[in-house]
Amino acid sequence: MSTADTYRRFADREARGVSPAYERLSRVVARDPDLLAMLDSLPPAKRQPNLLFGVVRLRGGPVDDPVAFRAHVLAHWPEIAAQMRVRATQTNEAGRCAVLLPVLAALPQPLALLEVGASAGLCLYPDRYAYRYGDRRIGDGEPVLDCTLTGVAPPDRWPEVVWRAGLDMNPLDVTDPADLAWLDALIWPEHAHRRQRLRAAAAVAGADPPLLVRGDLVDDLPALAARAPAGATLVIFHSSVLYQVPPARRTAFTELVRTLPGHWLANEDPTVLPRAGVPDPPDGGFHNLLALDGRPLAWTRGHGQAATWFGPVRS
Ligand SMILES: C[S@@+](CC[C@H](N)C(=O)[O-])C[C@H]1O[C@@H](n2cnc3c(N)ncnc32)[C@H](O)[C@@H]1O
Repeated sequence: MSTADTYRRFADREARGVSPAYERLSRVVARDPDLLAMLDSLPPAKRQPNLLFGVVRLRGGPVDDPVAFRAHVLAHWPEIAAQMRVRATQTNEAGRCAVLLPVLAALPQPLALLEVGASAGLCLYPDRYAYRYGDRRIGDGEPVLDCTLTGVAPPDRWPEVVWRAGLDMNPLDVTDPADLAWLDALIWPEHAHRRQRLRAAAAVAGADPPLLVRGDLVDDLPALAARAPAGATLVIFHSSVLYQVPPARRTAFTELVRTLPGHWLANEDPTVLPRAGVPDPPDGGFHNLLALDGRPLAWTRGHGQAATWFGPVRS
């Protein structure tokens, strides 16, 4: 796909109705030969809209006005390109815990959680956040994760988590202001509520940091899984990760994870997981499929705002 098509697709499929600012910017980039030529000087994986816009935001550059954005990128391209080469999109969205919780709460307790592609590990605290499923509230405190559940009852208990570990090729540290600033810059401009949620979830994680291991989701997974305590149900899970992994490595991962003990919980783009027999999503906003041990259970929205169940709570 050309870079122009990538930006057009991003505008149509991801930003429209979700971020007017990023929809405007991505349409401007898609039509601008100068910006496209600069982006094409980067490796393909580094040309993505979220990476460009995140780096501009991190620098305090303008993202609300396309003319000012273009001028900023043209004037500062060497610094922006250098940042795009060394950074990756690592959005860490605690809200995704709201769609994992019904499954986690239904598994045999206690749990040992191992998140693959954990970023800063904010999804490793499903037992420490509060939830609002329609008019059903679970827990007190912050952050409160709002989620519309269809086809399944909200869980009536938290999971009991006795071990939490994350594996990531570039783990981030929420107690490091520079890492937190990058996570903040990756949140889209209009999403003030997600920025508040990041701060609240970072406070939870920072008070009791998880074990975060730098490593690859295939090469280093067995060793980390072997560190899970006996007597707990190991749950290896991942959310919005496999789209970043080349297809051959994705296959290696899905073959490997089935050989490990415990359960495998995936919340991923349907193009990266088998989806035979899955009904169509309720609408175009349901970008992820939730699957337990390879069996699809529900369609979910990208940041955990909603889940529509078509399978049992657990397989
Ligand atoms: C978009 S973030 C998602 C973070 C988190 N799972 C969430 O839902 O908020 C994807 C993460 O996967 C990590 N990742 C990508 N490829 C990986 C690999 N081969 N091995 C380990 N981690 C990887 C990235 O570094 C990044 O932190």
